[in-house]
Amino acid sequence: MKLEELIDQIEKIDSYKRFGSVKRVVGLMIESQGPESSVGDVCCIHIGKGRTRKIQAEVVGFKNESVILMPYTDVQDISPGCLVEASSKPLEVKIGTALIGQVIDSLGQPLDGSQLPKGLTPVLTEQSPPNPLKRPPISEPIEVGVRMIDSMLTVGNGQRVGIFAGSGVGKSTLLGMIARNTNADLNVIALIGERGREVREFIERDLGPEGLNRSIVVVATSDQPALMRIKGAYTATAIAEYFRDKGLNVMLMMDSVTRVAMAQREIGLAVGEPPTTKGYTPSVFAVLPKLLERTGTNEHGSITAFYTVLVDGDDMNEPIADTVRGILDGHFVLDRALANKGQYPAINVLKSVSRVMNHIADSDHIKSAEKVREMLSTYINAEDLINIGAYKRGSSIEIDEAIRLYPSIISFLKQETHEKISILESVGQLKGIAGKGE
Ligand SMILES: Nc1ncnc2c1ncn2[C@@H]1O[C@H](COP(=O)(O)OP(=O)(O)OP(=O)(O)O)[C@@H](O)[C@H]1O
Ligand SMILES: [Mg+2]
Repeated sequence: MKLEELIDQIEKIDSYKRFGSVKRVVGLMIESQGPESSVGDVCCIHIGKGRTRKIQAEVVGFKNESVILMPYTDVQDISPGCLVEASSKPLEVKIGTALIGQVIDSLGQPLDGSQLPKGLTPVLTEQSPPNPLKRPPISEPIEVGVRMIDSMLTVGNGQRVGIFAGSGVGKSTLLGMIARNTNADLNVIALIGERGREVREFIERDLGPEGLNRSIVVVATSDQPALMRIKGAYTATAIAEYFRDKGLNVMLMMDSVTRVAMAQREIGLAVGEPPTTKGYTPSVFAVLPKLLERTGTNEHGSITAFYTVLVDGDDMNEPIADTVRGILDGHFVLDRALANKGQYPAINVLKSVSRVMNHIADSDHIKSAEKVREMLSTYINAEDLINIGAYKRGSSIEIDEAIRLYPSIISFLKQETHEKISILESVGQLKGIAGKGE
């Protein structure tokens, strides 16, 4: 760089530090007089005796003459007059290949309290989605290594899918399987709003060392402040974006996006937004599309994303489920009835859709999947009659065929947690079953 340019830059540097002071604390919100800042900026609040400790907080709004801040951590020892120091920039986290295999928190710090590795690049956690015109269409499948998905609900490289499920039907197990088996270059896994106990269980049991070695895990447990839970989602997405810009095919998994929406609702209500459907505030419905649109393809690489959505009972019309389903390119429904029967992964194929499958699979594959779907649905429709013995063989050719093939279809759909299978094999087996019906 030339000397003049350097001098020019020095002249432009803002050498002032801006301070404000805490006026009052109401619940989760801190009101301060100053500093000059904009929404989304991070500030440091000097707290404790002698004001020796600092906590980070974010500007979430303004009221009359004061700045409203929300802390990233629990607040203790805060008192009127505490100094609020503006950083004049939004939250950044440090990202790089050295993070692979690490478990970090929403602010990008290792969860075990160790030091961050060297050589990382600071990146803003909030980014805009890629320009729609620069997004290449999804044109090829990505292998997830789960037979039922690869064959019947083929996922495209850069597709975004919602996994809709109640509690305890196998979401974490399924995500762990995908993380271990996929041929994506890297996994970024965001665990948002989980209980603390589940985090270790997921990392050790579902992900295992082989899964963790090709993953970066971002954790914000349910006991953390709402802002941290939201930031967990942003940080994980920013990490996935960083590697996508390096040309990689990234797999992002977020468990769960419902808890992100709940955290946004908490913040919305605290800053005085009106509650609308099910108490969700308008900002929830503004934030979700912005977050979910960030993944997918761009001109460099791709982020294939799985977002889990919690549904109580079978209520797919709950506002978050409904909004998320509208934004994404597919939805997989995990069914408690299947889990109760021991049919794992408990994906209900007949209720699930991959919207890009028809563009990325060959016609033989599509026909076979349709055939198996049809047969399964014929069997399910007649299942009650068959079970009570009211169906007489020979009454319908379709039902006879469905009864004959049902056992092979079910054993095809089932998969042990540690069974690994390639997409080629899965599609081959699917074609085999469909062929038997001809
Ligand atoms: N593929 C599978 N094979 C065998 N058992 C399975 C499989 N998937 C899930 N299970 C069983 O279901 C149980 C619950 O699974 P999991 O913890 O993955 O559910 P979850 O939806 O993540 O639950 P939560 O809502 O509590 O987070 C597991 O303990 C396991 O016994
Ligand atoms: Mg779970």
